[in-house]
Amino acid sequence: MTFISSLQWKGDHLLLLDQRQLPHQEIYLKQTAIEDVWNSISALVVRGAPAIGIAAAYGLVLWSQHAETNEVSTFKAELRTQGEYLASSRPTAVNLSWAIDRIIRVSFSLPTVEKMKEAILKEATIIHQEDELVCQRIGEHGLKLLKDGDTILTHCNAGGIATAKYGTALAPLHLAKQNGLSISAIATETRPVLQGARLTAWELERAGIDVTLITDSMAAHVLKTKKIAAVIVGADRIAANGDTANKIGTLGLAHIAQAYQVPFYVAAPLSTIDYSVPHGDAIPIEERDPKEITHYQGERVAAENIKIFNPAFDVTPHHLIKGIITEHGIIRTPYEENLVHLSLPDDKNTEVHS
Ligand code: MRU
Repeated sequence: MTFISSLQWKGDHLLLLDQRQLPHQEIYLKQTAIEDVWNSISALVVRGAPAIGIAAAYGLVLWSQHAETNEVSTFKAELRTQGEYLASSRPTAVNLSWAIDRIIRVSFSLPTVEKMKEAILKEATIIHQEDELVCQRIGEHGLKLLKDGDTILTHCNAGGIATAKYGTALAPLHLAKQNGLSISAIATETRPVLQGARLTAWELERAGIDVTLITDSMAAHVLKTKKIAAVIVGADRIAANGDTANKIGTLGLAHIAQAYQVPFYVAAPLSTIDYSVPHGDAIPIEERDPKEITHYQGERVAAENIKIFNPAFDVTPHHLIKGIITEHGIIRTPYEENLVHLSLPDDKNTEVHS
């Protein structure tokens, strides 16, 4: 099957699949300036932790291509400012600042602006290409947990369009399909933005993978009454102790899964682990526009004059997580100990703000 790519670099501009229009229309929006990328990340044109990291990397390329100074110190100062600007587009997924820091780190040691510009483009391309391989590995490791005929339950969209290819939580399903195995999925619709209904169900159906859509409130009933091999979700930021921020509703699912003895797994690349955050309470949680809750297709559905609370993510404590499926294998408890072994010297903890 052919995967649809959510990001395409075209030499002097970036094309982003407008995920807000799915599943009805497959439209790409042309990004020619860093501001376009900021707006697209913030408005969910591009979404999913790894994909927004890749988009941000290309956002810095777009800025650098238009930067006029030849003065290294001016370029560096401006690059840092532009990185902070892009990082402000969404606060929870750490892949965003991870990609930005990586771009800054590789370019800062270079002697000329020209070389820095070349390095920024090269690194953005590497981040993009690497993610495909990383997701493939996550899929291979995740697949070891499953057998032919199994059904998994997933939440939100941690699929191919949330990454360079394959996805994280959905990667085992895509790889199973490629290997002639049949793994089915139950997708929760994922209120309020409906990533499950609009994106996951669409992506899996398109790939020829058996998928059943349920509303979020049906998850307990399904986990209690159906044979579900595992719950597998993605992640936006994993703290050093394994606590995991993911789409709002994930925490409830983890508790329900525990109640019915269904193993609950998180699938994520190492770039989603934030070693500077000791535990989940320290992860910033994005709050989004109340209209996502009060309105449906532009029409107000909620009563007027009421208060709205719209957190986009919640944090699942590590004790509810059976394993974290990464490109380096499945990490299990004690997470504090086992995650630290994965920390690379050039990881995001490395100080880049010299
Ligand atoms: O608000 P979104 O759609 O960007 O939220 C996405 C998720 O919560 C995903 O599960 C997570 O980013 C992992 S994507 C591989």
